[in-house]
Amino acid sequence: MPKLLLGLLLTLALALPNAAIAREKASLNAAWMFHKGDVPTASDPNFQADTWQAIELPHTYNASDAGAGGDKARGEEEGVYYRGPAWYRRDLTVTPQPGKRYFLQFEGAALITEAYLNGKSVGRHDGGYATFRFDITDALKSGRNVLAVKVDNTRVNHIAPLTGDFNVFGGLYRNVWLVTADGIHVDLMDHGGPGVYATTKTITNASADIHVKSLIRNDTATSAPVKVRTTILDASGKTVAQSTTTFTVAANTTVPTETNLTVKKPRLWAGRSAPYLYTVKIETGSDTVTVPLGVRTFTIDVKNGVLLNGKPYAVYGANMQQPGRYGKGTAVSDAEIDEDMQIMDEMGVTALRLAHMQHHPRVYEEADRRGILISTEAPLVDFIDASDAFKANAVQQMQELIAQNYNHPSVVVWGLGNEIRSNDPDPNPVLAALQSTAKAMDTSRPTAYAHCCLADDDPVALHSDIVSYNKYFGWYWGEFEDIGKWADEVHAKLPNRVIGISEYGAGASILHQEDLPKRTVPQAYWHPEQYQSAYHEANWKVLKARPYLWSNFIWVAFDFPSFRRNEGDRPAINDKGLVTEDRKVRKDAYYWYQANWSDKPMVHITSSRDTPKRVRKVTVKVYSNAAEVRLRLNGVDLAVQPVVDHMATWKIELKDGDNVIEATAGDITDQVMWSYTDKIG
Ligand code: GCU
Repeated sequence: MPKLLLGLLLTLALALPNAAIAREKASLNAAWMFHKGDVPTASDPNFQADTWQAIELPHTYNASDAGAGGDKARGEEEGVYYRGPAWYRRDLTVTPQPGKRYFLQFEGAALITEAYLNGKSVGRHDGGYATFRFDITDALKSGRNVLAVKVDNTRVNHIAPLTGDFNVFGGLYRNVWLVTADGIHVDLMDHGGPGVYATTKTITNASADIHVKSLIRNDTATSAPVKVRTTILDASGKTVAQSTTTFTVAANTTVPTETNLTVKKPRLWAGRSAPYLYTVKIETGSDTVTVPLGVRTFTIDVKNGVLLNGKPYAVYGANMQQPGRYGKGTAVSDAEIDEDMQIMDEMGVTALRLAHMQHHPRVYEEADRRGILISTEAPLVDFIDASDAFKANAVQQMQELIAQNYNHPSVVVWGLGNEIRSNDPDPNPVLAALQSTAKAMDTSRPTAYAHCCLADDDPVALHSDIVSYNKYFGWYWGEFEDIGKWADEVHAKLPNRVIGISEYGAGASILHQEDLPKRTVPQAYWHPEQYQSAYHEANWKVLKARPYLWSNFIWVAFDFPSFRRNEGDRPAINDKGLVTEDRKVRKDAYYWYQANWSDKPMVHITSSRDTPKRVRKVTVKVYSNAAEVRLRLNGVDLAVQPVVDHMATWKIELKDGDNVIEATAGDITDQVMWSYTDKIG
């Protein structure tokens, strides 16, 4: 193109007052001032906050008091951590463009968030776990704006969860963004979601039919003709399907547009073995939105069990609590979330239950990439409140959960809640409302519910399409093997109901070693690691023998803080994790499941921390997924043992002092050092 003409076109483009710019998303994580407590004038733009604490997001104001447990000696059973208001302030320097819309996007803040721009209220959100946005366009001025945000994690009767075996970490504990879009854009106010819903309708070898619904918003004062281009791109970025729709959107309205596309010779999202991801791109005017697409089908029924792409698929793994870290609460980084997912990936899970509330967006994205199935749920835990406000907010949280996670192929189940423990007040209207909300938004996925403490066929357990149970035989009650008898009884009583296990587990402190372990008292300070291993060895053998169970989820992946506990080796911790809260130590039970679930060669000598030994003659127990394991004691080869049901044992005699034990399978070796002395003192 002649240089003169090119220069003319460039000048023209820049000169256009409303030169259409693509959607922008700028991080607002930096340069906040924070104050714990309420300050009635903190929203005033002239308020002086320079004595407040300078912080960056993500941030929680419970990072330091999360471990504040109760004191049994003083009869305190429940710990205390701060639940109350706090304020965040920062400047926002913007040159607002005519016709542009400006939104604050919070990825999660607990529990109630109220935002003010230049002293003007720009939004309030009730709920602690979902993304939400506020349109701040009309309050924005050119130059310096003052953004003040009040966050309050006080327990209130209209916001679930009303209680639970976990802390409600207050604050702006996930990312905050400033989103800028043209007046005509893909809707940004659809329950905090992308405003796009892509659904795989049918799959054959030759092709897959994909239905895409997009919500187009006209935030201008005049009706406008719009063109929406929907494109499906493969993992290399190549266009594999495309369609365009044109229609008119009246001023200040949102219009849904739907289109069907066909992907030829689709590559399926097939779980752990092949989590192939496409991208769906929606373009309208200057606005572009992309969402993931995994071409797959997922069904569960009593006759066929779980089918992924029409083939049986075993669903086993662990529960994850909200992503969190010791000393940081839930204010964690993407890298820390990725590490959690990597640890679970290495254990060999096929699925994860994201317990008790909507989790960080990064968790779902990682699950898509790793091919890990996800069960995710609304935060109905233990009890409900009878008010309409509680039901309305629970429905809102379910709508946010689905709108925001609909396009993740990893998500296969929407959970209605967990362990409603009482029929007074009557929980059924709330559960019915959540069930109908889920079905109205998504007919492609089943709903589930994690049941415990009322009768196994209590009405609360019958609203969802399928049901799972939280059962701790051999920990809170009963014996290890009882879970099989119990499951068979429920299966016989409800032959047409798909049932699963949503939680089973036992506590363990890596500081407590007792070989062989006696029965542990759950509420006691002594939680030997060996008891947790024995619990999981026995429970898994029983559960894996019952394919009618659609799911088996261990409680829980990582130790986590819980104000209501005071057991194990420290207060305010739930130590049923397979991995310690700091992620530094994988307990022996983790390796039991890795031996059962991972096909990467492994061998693990248990009780490495149980030293010095108290007796000379000890048993070596090894977990492995190999056929046989060779043991060496202080450099001398002992017998090679076959691995039977992922375990091999040897009886050995220790010499005085330090003993080196090595277990080898193929070219993998694990080594421990146990010391022994018969001298006392
Ligand atoms: C319950 C509950 C969990 C809790 C667990 C436990 O089933 O769902 O939130 O942490 O049991 O007792 O550890």
